[in-house]
Amino acid sequence: MRILHVTSEITPIAKVGGLGDVLMGLTRELASRGHEVLVILPFYGCIDVAKLTDEKKEDSFETICEGEKQRGKISYFRAANGVEVGLFDTETSYFRREKNIYGEVGRFLSFSRAVAEYLRAGRRKFDIVHLHDWPAALVSLFYRVLIPQDPSFSTVFTIHNFEYQGRCSWDDVKMVGFSREDFQDPSCFQDPAYDCLNSVKAGLLTCDRATTVSPTYAKEVLTPQGGTGLDKVLASLGSRFQGVLNGIDDLFWNPAHDPYLSCPYSLESKASVRTSKRQNKHQLFSKLGLKVLDDLPLLISVTRLVQQKGIYMIRDLFAQAEELQFQCVLLGSVPEQEAELAFKELDSLLRAKKRGAVFLGSQEELSHELFAASDIFVAPSLFEPCGLTQLIALKYGSIPIVRKTGGLADTIVDVDVNRQDGNGFLFETPTSESFIATARRALLRFKDPEGWSNLMKKGMSQDFSWRNPGDQYEALYTHLK
Ligand code: ADP
Ligand code: GLC
Repeated sequence: MRILHVTSEITPIAKVGGLGDVLMGLTRELASRGHEVLVILPFYGCIDVAKLTDEKKEDSFETICEGEKQRGKISYFRAANGVEVGLFDTETSYFRREKNIYGEVGRFLSFSRAVAEYLRAGRRKFDIVHLHDWPAALVSLFYRVLIPQDPSFSTVFTIHNFEYQGRCSWDDVKMVGFSREDFQDPSCFQDPAYDCLNSVKAGLLTCDRATTVSPTYAKEVLTPQGGTGLDKVLASLGSRFQGVLNGIDDLFWNPAHDPYLSCPYSLESKASVRTSKRQNKHQLFSKLGLKVLDDLPLLISVTRLVQQKGIYMIRDLFAQAEELQFQCVLLGSVPEQEAELAFKELDSLLRAKKRGAVFLGSQEELSHELFAASDIFVAPSLFEPCGLTQLIALKYGSIPIVRKTGGLADTIVDVDVNRQDGNGFLFETPTSESFIATARRALLRFKDPEGWSNLMKKGMSQDFSWRNPGDQYEALYTHLK
């Protein structure tokens, strides 16, 4: 099949969170099955072209951006995962002139119009056009307005997080050459609460199939509380909406071949996993200027520092590192100001007590080193569409403590409830007390070295690769073709 993915992120060239990892892993899996795959994203100023190979002749076409007609162009390269990527920009370097990935919602309206124009120009033919999240959601609506008859391709729309719905003003819509009246029944696409266009709603109502990233989250968003205003729209889709659990890319996330690790390891290595992980911890702590208190477990968090992730529960647990006898490191990106202050305070406390530290920012290398060095990984999310970090943690032998929600509930089984299948620790009530009580259970278990090694082995041998979700997406595409 000829499959186009439209996205705002792909790891490693443009990554903010899990969306980037999904695009890297899913498209590699689909290409390895013989499908012809192209990924289109904006040509942001932060994209390092040196990380791409095989530059090919660009395609150019007319589009509307910043309220005027412009030449749009897509430059083709080969990404690190072997898949072809097309980077979109205009003659005025609309995207390249800025370094950041996200910002104004209006930028992605321009992107969506351009992709719709690219499809209309028809230089390449596709069987499936797969749109990801609000930045690409409007492609199907815009295409429908440009060419009202049925397209030759089918559309799949995956929502990775319903919290971000791409609400944009009708003025933003004008800047890409459309007016409210162009949409047959604009009220359909209007936000349920505000007088504006809701990109995710429009995507849901104009795509052939919609998916989200885990079965449990797919059920949660059908409730008024979890649906963030779109539960009724989702219910109207019936079986055209489903949850497909994400995977992780097992070439990028693999402790046996991870180029960032000082001591790569696997279940087959001569040295035990525990010994290798300890070595990684020593190397990392000396690099970070931290002191290892050897017998204490290392707890970590690698996260965007946003409310969704239950960050104040993490702060409360980590503040008790001395009392509960553990060390900890938090790596947190894109903090809001209040969170930044809270976590700087935590950093001072941890450093003063020689219990660990907080690092702010997005640091790919450090994230890999932390997964490898740690014993326990925490993710007490308030909600979590899928979550990839608990899967990465399992793969690196770091045992997850997570809240029972969304994809976390689909992937982690509490070992104190189900000894046979247990691979981590779960709690339900979103309070620091409940989270800390669960951490105490995990810390108690850590004191049994044999039981802990078995738990690590179990997690490391689970298959959370893209093979299974790859089968599911392939079946979905085949059904639509
Ligand atoms: P989300 O997409 O909601 O942020 P996921 O668990 O799906 O959550 O994916 C997060 C991805 O981003 C993982 O690859 C994780 O390692 C990475 N990540 C999160 N925070 C950071 C950070 N501060 N530095 C580096 N990588 C990070
Ligand atoms: C979103 C979600 C996260 C999910 C990721 C990839 O960022 O917050 O739970 O794993 O997308 O689908």
